[in-house]
Amino acid sequence: MIVLAVESSCDETAVALVEDGRRVLTDCISSQVDLHRIYGGVVPEIASRKHIEAIYGLADQALREAGLTRGQIDAVAVTYAPGLIGAVLVGVNFAKAAALSLGVPLIPVHHIRGHIAANYLAYPELEPPFLCLVVSGGHTMLVDVADYTKMKILGTTLDDAAGECFDKVARVLDMPYPGGAALDRRAQAGREGRYPLPRARAGANPLDMSFSGLKTAAINLIHNARQKGEEIVVEDLCADFSAAVSDTLVPRAMEALKGTGYKKLAVAGGVAANSRIRRDILAAAEQAGAAVYMPPLKLCGDNGAMIGAQGYYEYLAGHVADMSLNAYATKSILGEAL
Ligand code: KG4
Ligand code: ZN
Repeated sequence: MIVLAVESSCDETAVALVEDGRRVLTDCISSQVDLHRIYGGVVPEIASRKHIEAIYGLADQALREAGLTRGQIDAVAVTYAPGLIGAVLVGVNFAKAAALSLGVPLIPVHHIRGHIAANYLAYPELEPPFLCLVVSGGHTMLVDVADYTKMKILGTTLDDAAGECFDKVARVLDMPYPGGAALDRRAQAGREGRYPLPRARAGANPLDMSFSGLKTAAINLIHNARQKGEEIVVEDLCADFSAAVSDTLVPRAMEALKGTGYKKLAVAGGVAANSRIRRDILAAAEQAGAAVYMPPLKLCGDNGAMIGAQGYYEYLAGHVADMSLNAYATKSILGEAL
């Protein structure tokens, strides 16, 4: 089954063709990052306009690259939530038009379920159940992936997402948006221990997380140093900050894994590209005798292929939509796709 997959929830327009949820035939991405960089973050209005300009050409490009015709598309999958509402609407509208004109099913896919499914593309042997640590720009949670479309949230951030904190701290350190990857690179040249930063405990559920205190502590530290005219060793601060984020995420992931009894731990989302988190996950999982699944860097960030992968399994579960499908800025990953 060949799925044309569309993703437009933030600042990447992406169209992919995926076969049977596991094989990427082509994965075309048009990034708007350079456009938003001058504003220090994504400008929703600009994002929507750029998606609408790019999406049709990308779909044609995807077909050309895969050597397929429109008639060979069996279904159209699309991110319908969550994201910048104007941006998501562009993808949903395009997907509806494509499905209607081709006479094929329309499959709504939750963006975060898509991130989790990036692991199916990277690891053809991976099947649920497994535990997934989801760390993206907008979400941070521990998900019990009981089956391809049946999930349970075991823990979540009670305030900021990990990616949001990376980006904010990077911005205060004058790194260009989105700063997570740049901060990671600087951290790799740094030494830990110079800047003590907090590891917060959050609420009654030991698997819940909090990052806003860490973010504020790091930003205050930078501002205070600047006010006093003290030099900051940026590499060392980045290393200490990355360590604090990882120390918040990884022990909870291992605790959650123990609780489920699973021996499979997957990681998903843009922040899954972080070198410190990847290293800590590998070490902790080895100690626990668990297998680790981490998508390659290009499948960690937003892409269309992950939507095609999850779309296939949503289709098998009967989660198809009609032409009344709407887009949603927020939506839980739980339950039915609609
Ligand atoms: O999953 P994603 O592409 O978009 C959302 O669905 O939010 O995640 C984007 C986030 C951004 O906050 C970006 O700075 C962060 O992932 N990111 C990283 C790294 N690469 C991307 N954060 C830390 N270290 C990295 N290497
Ligand atoms: Zn994403």
